[in-house]
Amino acid sequence: MNIITCVAPVNIAVIKYWGKRDEKLLLPLNDSISATLSVQQMHAKTTVMASPGFKEDKLWLNGKEETVHNQRLQNCLQEIRRRAKQNEDDKVNGVSNWYAHICSENNFPTAAGLASSAAGYACLVYALAQLYNVTGDISGIARQGSGSACRSLYGGFVRWHQGSACDGSDSIATQLAPHSHWPEMRILVLVVSDKRKKVSSSSGMQNSVKTSELLKYRVSHCVPKRTEAIIKAIISKDFDTFADITMKDSNQFHAVCLDTFPPNVYMNDTSHAIVNLIHAYNSASGKTKVAYTFDAGPNACLYLLEHEVPKLVSVICQIFPPENEGVQYLQGIPVEKQA
Ligand code: DP6
Repeated sequence: MNIITCVAPVNIAVIKYWGKRDEKLLLPLNDSISATLSVQQMHAKTTVMASPGFKEDKLWLNGKEETVHNQRLQNCLQEIRRRAKQNEDDKVNGVSNWYAHICSENNFPTAAGLASSAAGYACLVYALAQLYNVTGDISGIARQGSGSACRSLYGGFVRWHQGSACDGSDSIATQLAPHSHWPEMRILVLVVSDKRKKVSSSSGMQNSVKTSELLKYRVSHCVPKRTEAIIKAIISKDFDTFADITMKDSNQFHAVCLDTFPPNVYMNDTSHAIVNLIHAYNSASGKTKVAYTFDAGPNACLYLLEHEVPKLVSVICQIFPPENEGVQYLQGIPVEKQA
């Protein structure tokens, strides 16, 4: 029997992925860029076992047995086994023919717009690749589990290339810069709600593709320019530009969600209060010191440099005391290299 355990962190996009050009292969309409968080903080942990004695694949998520007849999971398993077979001398009894038992858990709220599927599928695919001896790029396999998962396979700043090939072979993630390039960068996650989101990212973006005119404009006119500009800002460690683009892209993504019909409302009053607070904080500082970004949920992710963390945390704690319902807890998360 082979057993492997892996841990993979979440990633937080600064240029958002929203909209697919291929629903089966999970191919995006635009490039996206993210930073991967420290693996000690918010992560998925997955143990996979394969044995010639197992009669079927099995899956446990956060302690509960779930069906394996989920198309995305099946696509990942099939692709891993297909690649494993290519490396095997014995095509009949090799490990690629063994069934797997998969056990995965998150140490943070699942499906609350905190990139849980990204960490989950990155971890699963990485663990399966180790188990079945698959080498080479595996981000294209993780992408087939959940698009944003391909970015969690790398640490530091990561770009997911939309690609143009019909088979998705060039829609992969690459590292733009390791964490050591900008070691002062920090992310604070403000958990406004740990409830499961009402509309999943997948069905939300499907509706946006069908109904939002703004999404078309975003994809053709805004994202390509922003992607190039934010890469330059990351490379030159220009926090002002990095922060401005991050906030504008988050705002535009949520504008697309509201332009979707019926609208997808992910942010709540507390999220908007955080946006106002950050703008007030930046204008009182006379400089952009903090950037906010929101995924498909009300929780805020704040990008800032290390020296700014104590001051910002004290301001946030005064305005949203942790004992109140507003913001439930805070985490200071350095962007680190994936373990
Ligand atoms: C708002 O990767 O969860 O977090 O590919 O359908 O699984 P699927 O969607 P998912 O979408 C993430 C959307 C986002 C933006 C981002 O992370 O880029």
